[in-house]
Order: sequence, then C-alpha cells, then structure tokens
Amino acid sequence: MLLWLPVLLGAFSWNETQAKRISEGLQDLFGNISQLIDKGRLGLNVVSHKEWGAEAVGCSTPLTRPVDFFVTHHVPGLECHNRTACSQRLWELWDHHVHNNSWCDVAYNFLVGDDGRVYEGVGWNIQGMHTQGYNHISLGFAFFGTKEGHGPSPAALSAMQGLISYAILKGHLSSVYVQPLLVKGENCLAPLQKASPKKACSNIVPRSAWEARKTHCPKMNLPAKYVVIFHTAGRTCIMSDECHLLVQDIQSFFIDRLNSCDVGYNFLVGQDGVIYEGVGWNVQGSRAPGYNDIALGIAFMGTFLGTPPNAAALEAAQNLIQCAVDKGYLTPNYLLVGHSDIVNTLSPGEALYNIIKTWPHFKH
Ligand SMILES: *[C@@H]1O[C@H](CO)[C@@H](O)[C@H](O)[C@H]1NC(C)=O
Ligand SMILES: *[C@@H]1O[C@H](CO)[C@@H](O)[C@H](O)[C@H]1NC(C)=O
Ligand SMILES: *[C@@H]1O[C@H](CO)[C@@H](O)[C@H](O)[C@H]1NC(C)=O
Repeated sequence: MLLWLPVLLGAFSWNETQAKRISEGLQDLFGNISQLIDKGRLGLNVVSHKEWGAEAVGCSTPLTRPVDFFVTHHVPGLECHNRTACSQRLWELWDHHVHNNSWCDVAYNFLVGDDGRVYEGVGWNIQGMHTQGYNHISLGFAFFGTKEGHGPSPAALSAMQGLISYAILKGHLSSVYVQPLLVKGENCLAPLQKASPKKACSNIVPRSAWEARKTHCPKMNLPAKYVVIFHTAGRTCIMSDECHLLVQDIQSFFIDRLNSCDVGYNFLVGQDGVIYEGVGWNVQGSRAPGYNDIALGIAFMGTFLGTPPNAAALEAAQNLIQCAVDKGYLTPNYLLVGHSDIVNTLSPGEALYNIIKTWPHFKH
C-alpha cells in the first residue's frame, strides 16, 4: 500500500475547494510546508546520471521552470536496497527505454530508491517522457525498488520529500504545485501478466446507426492513458429505440446548449447493455478538462446516485475497456478514474462510483 492519497485534479479546474484539498493532501503527505522546506535544506544524496552508468543525458528538449505540476510514478519490478543494485536496475530501465522504446533517455526527471538515494534521470532542466500531456509542464519523479503491493521504504519517502522541497527551494517547481495523479505502472521489467482472452469490440452502435450530426473535432492522442467514467445525469433508456433517441438528444444538448463541438464522451452505455459510439476512438471528448486528449470518456446514460446501472450495462462497459486495450486504443497500464476524481461533480453518481472503485486499474 502506498502511504498517501494522491491529490487528483484536472489541470484547468482550479478553485478554492480544490486548493484546500491540495493543501490538506500535502499535509497528509509531508506534514506542513515549513517542515518540508527544512528537509530541502538538509540536502540530497544524489547519484548522478554518469555515476549510475549512463554517460550524457540523451534528451535535449528544455523544461521551462518553474513547472506547476509534478507527477509521482511507481515502477514495480526494480527492487533494490543499495547503491550498486539500484544503479544496475536503473541502467536496465534506461536500456529498456532507450533501446526498446527508442526514447532519448530514461523517462523520468529523477528516481528515488529504497536505499534513500535520489538517482538523476534527465534532471531538472530537460523534459522527461513520463506522462503524456504533462511532460512539458511537469517534473516526473519515480519510486523504484518496491515490490507490487508494497509501499516505498521510509528512507525512500523521506528522500522524495527532500527532493520535492529542494525543487521548490531552487525554483524548479512552483510552491503551489499541483500533483495531478499518482501514476502507478510501467511494469516493463516485471514478469508479464497472464494474457486474458481478447475481447472483440462487439455491440458498438456506430454514429451512422443512431444518425449522429456530422462534426469536425480535435483528435485524440492514442493510445489513451486514462479511462474516465461519467453518468449523463438525465433520463436513462432500456429499449434500443429509446437509446437511439437519447443519444441523439444528448448530442444535440452538447452542440446546441453547451456549445461543444460534439457529444462530450467517446462512448455512451445504455441500460439495453449496448455501447453507443459518441465521438469514438479517434476524437477527443470534452467533459474531462486536462484529460480530454489522453482519456477515453465512457458515460452511462442516466443518473446513478442511488441505484447503479444494471448488470448488462456494467458488463458492456468493462468489455469496451478490455477491447480498447486489445485493439491498442488504450495503454495496458491505463488508469481508471471517476469524473468526480478530476473535477468537483456528482458524476458518475455514488452508486456507480462504488462499483467502478472495484474495477481493475482504478486509481483515485
Ligand atoms: C509546521 O511545522 C513546524 C515545525 O515542526 C511547526 O513549528 C509549525 O507550528 C507547524 N505549522 C503548522 C501550521 O502546523
Ligand atoms: C546489494 O544488494 C544486492 C541485491 O539485493 C546484494 O546481492 C548485494 O550483496 C548488496 N551489496 C552490498 C554491498 O550490500
Ligand atoms: C528489448 O530489446 C531486446 C533487444 O532487441 C530484446 O532482446 C528484448 O526482448 C526486448 N525486451 C522487451 C521487454 O521487449
């Protein structure tokens, strides 16, 4: 178990409640800011890029400081407890990123080992490749050396605190930074999981079948990294004719009333257990500020505060997610979140939220 609740925010949805959530989140994380700053003054035990074995940093796209975001990652499968072993693990990760992924260097700005040392990745002034959509505006720090299901060691947590406070002190990170997500993942070096049977993307009613209005909207960055679950907060539908009409109405509501480019979701789910294509795989939805270009938005049609969607609808949505992974529209390490995890809203409704919390890859 990781020891904190990540503070979840859409990049463009700042308000006072959220500022409060952040400061509370920070206190949970690191005690108060003055304690944090004290740690930063203590200095860091840093192993440079050259010292752990890779010569010059291979990336060169500059990062403009101070950045407003920082993203913590957790890289399982790289367990190590001393400098020699951690350097070796990091070199293997670097090798994988450079040679298998064809990246210019290891993906993170810095990594923190269970030995309490900070290992330099691409450093302070260069963009990493850790979080699509955030690389140019964030610092990406990764924990490695932890087993799946285990939190970082006290030494690693303390080193991470020191690293963050150092970043603030030296003007690399804004003192009112936002931590949008804790990204757990990247198990490239961990043993491969057993493959689940591939799901065909069946039962998707295309736009032409529900007579969608034609639009030209911004394209998605595929594969998506997140799935966001919504409810539409309106009426629901059980029969297929009813669902066709409802999807049409929802599209018109978005275009005519909200001035959106199109319906705000990639897919919609009816209580008939059928998936309706919204803007589809290749176009951005509009309901998840900060995430639209990197998240697939799936909306259950109806209001699910007290009663969840029926089993057919829930199963259809889960099959859709699995098929998205199988077809390469969604990264296998995707994160699943509820709409309310990224903006202050009741969607997807408490009853539905309680169900998606139990689904694989859920992260709030
Ligand atoms: C923050 O921590 C410092 C040092 O432990 C303490 O003196 C101070 O009162 C704390 N501030 C708050 C607001 O809790
Ligand atoms: C470092 O850790 C590795 C793997 O856990 C172990 O085999 C090795 O003996 C350790 N080296 C030192 C110097 O403690
Ligand atoms: C990475 O590339 C090497 C050399 O091409 C290959 O042997 C290895 O299997 C690849 N590893 C993964 C995890 O794809």
